[in-house]
Amino acid sequence: MIPPPRPQLAPADDLTRAADIDISKAIAPLIEQRYRSPIVRPSRAADVAALIDESFPEGGDSLEQLVTQITNATDQYPRRNTHPGFFGWIAPSGLPSDPLAHAMVSVLNENLGGYWASPVGTTVEKTVIRWLADLAGFPRQSEGVLLSGGSISNMAGMASALAKRFGPEYREKGLGAFSKTTPPVILCSRAAHFSIRRAAVMLGIGTDNIIAIDTDDAFRMRIDRLDDALRQQQNVVCVVASAGTTNTGAIDPLEEIAALCQAHDVWLHVDAAYGGGGLMSAELRPRYRGIEQADSVVMDMHKWFFQSLGGSLLLYRDASWARQLFFESSDYLHAAAESTPEHYMFFHIAPELSRRFRALPFYLAMRCYGIARLGRNALHNVHCAEYLADLVRQQDELELIVAPQLSILCFRFKPAALDNAEIDRINSEIRDQIQLEGDYLMSATRVRERPVLRVCIINHATRAEHVEGLLESVLRIGRSLLKS
Ligand SMILES: Cc1ncc(COP(=O)(O)O)c(C=O)c1O
Repeated sequence: MIPPPRPQLAPADDLTRAADIDISKAIAPLIEQRYRSPIVRPSRAADVAALIDESFPEGGDSLEQLVTQITNATDQYPRRNTHPGFFGWIAPSGLPSDPLAHAMVSVLNENLGGYWASPVGTTVEKTVIRWLADLAGFPRQSEGVLLSGGSISNMAGMASALAKRFGPEYREKGLGAFSKTTPPVILCSRAAHFSIRRAAVMLGIGTDNIIAIDTDDAFRMRIDRLDDALRQQQNVVCVVASAGTTNTGAIDPLEEIAALCQAHDVWLHVDAAYGGGGLMSAELRPRYRGIEQADSVVMDMHKWFFQSLGGSLLLYRDASWARQLFFESSDYLHAAAESTPEHYMFFHIAPELSRRFRALPFYLAMRCYGIARLGRNALHNVHCAEYLADLVRQQDELELIVAPQLSILCFRFKPAALDNAEIDRINSEIRDQIQLEGDYLMSATRVRERPVLRVCIINHATRAEHVEGLLESVLRIGRSLLKS
């Protein structure tokens, strides 16, 4: 048969070889910037915008020049989470293997919806999840999925709790059907991360229906108060415990919380988005006792597992509730009746359909460095935090506000003969001046309604000399502010 004549197509505008560039050479200056001071430089948005070409992109710029443009812009106006003196918020340092791993992820560009779309990716992700499940002491049949971050993972874990609480009808009938007489509530400590509140909003539960449990002196959930709440509340969806709170690094008493949840047949979700990385250390692992009894656990790879952004593990003890909620079969993506490994679908147990090959950076790092070695780095962070706490205790002009339970501590410059208002003002100023000097960064926070200096150490490059340097800066700046 003679084929029909080919229509007059415009010539293809070929992109296949439009990015020939030596990647390692291109990013070398960025790699070299990672430990450079200042960590951050104050900026006006207009000054930053002036470094970025905002004109409509007609094309034709050379990749080399564009790389230089961004390299120069980030050097001029940096925010180096990578710097060993970065002690703010909970920002990941990234690992040396990450640039290569993330380049591989982009080149492969596989979609981790499930095995059909990425046989190798699915196998790698399941392998990584198994290692992490083992660290948490989860049973063999547990399952998990890597999502974009702790906020989404927390929400998906809590959604699965709804599926268990209200059963198969929840999916069809929605929350309204189960909240006619008594609103569903979530119990978590006052110190829980705000992603729990936002999840409650997105899940239609509402922030009024979060019962905030009081904390003890070390900011851990009070068991007696949780017990009271579990007895009083009729329609509890789940208890959310924290294994490492954001502000002070507190670990809730997980074993006792798990026992209460079992007694009341309530789902236990553990937010270990920050603290999870500590499980890599055999020495630190006992601090998390009870986590193995949770129904779901969240651990961010992009926090204390040192990984570059972004990846977060959501682990389910029994993924059947999640599957009941998220399962979909459509004309174009028909779910097979079989449940063999070849039919495995990550998107049946979590809200994301298309997903990056998030497990690859972690797989490379874990195999290359080993979990024990990464764990020793986490432990070193804890030792640095404890060392800093000791240095603070030894100084009369300083007050330790929250001792480290993991790698976060809070303290304050507190010379005698100043009133609280002056102390608060001086501490805020110390923090700002340290940022301006550029070698260290602490983020602003308040503990018991007053500003404190908060230090979070999750960078594998941080050493004792960095915490000593930070303390010297605090004292030098504090004393000079006193004189002025
Ligand atoms: C304890 C805790 N949970 C959840 C989150 C939210 O994680 P993400 O920023 O990855 O969404 C954070 C963020 O700092 C956190 O500290």
